[in-house]
Amino acid sequence: MTRPSAAAEAANPDIVSRPDRTIVLVGMMGVGKTTIGKRLAHRLGMDFIDADAEIEKAAGYTIPEIFEKFGEAQFRDGERRVIARLLKDEPAHVMAAGGGAFNDPDTRATMKERAISVWLRADLDVLGKRVARRTNRPLLEGGEVEEKLAALMEARAPAYELAELHLNTSEGEPEDSVETLVQKLEAGGYMKVYACRT
Ligand code: S3P
Repeated sequence: MTRPSAAAEAANPDIVSRPDRTIVLVGMMGVGKTTIGKRLAHRLGMDFIDADAEIEKAAGYTIPEIFEKFGEAQFRDGERRVIARLLKDEPAHVMAAGGGAFNDPDTRATMKERAISVWLRADLDVLGKRVARRTNRPLLEGGEVEEKLAALMEARAPAYELAELHLNTSEGEPEDSVETLVQKLEAGGYMKVYACRT
């Protein structure tokens, strides 16, 4: 079956196309991985999984508690295991990964092997405003948040660059980012499965 055009899909809601692999959203804290991920999953008719929430479930502790009790290295071990399990066992879904996950070489290798990785990026001032809304991020505790974000961004950018798709989310609403991302997935030939809604 040849792939229906976006216009044909819009005209015929029975036609659904989506990737046959998990889409994993990576990028800095505050960039909107969860917000955009949930909307993208809804848009494509896929499940949404928040990797951090799964790590908390597996550990029986919140992320700040894991950092406090065991430290970052142990958190990364857990993150590596949980993400590998999700990418192996769960049907193709949309995953929001924690900001440091793609910086871990093993986790990144698993993601590259089993998923379509998408780097959501935003300018530092935008990230600063977005993270200011919440206080559950141990790596931003104590000191200037913008400085910490800048240092993390500089250290992680070379890893994020390795993601298959890149999307700037600095401007526009989450819905706009979702539509742009769907277009990128289409242009990249990632839309593989065509089905009829029941
Ligand atoms: C982290 C980001 C957080 C969480 C943990 C560490 C990071 O996830 O995994 O606090 O290293 O950037 P979000 O990016 O969803 O905030």
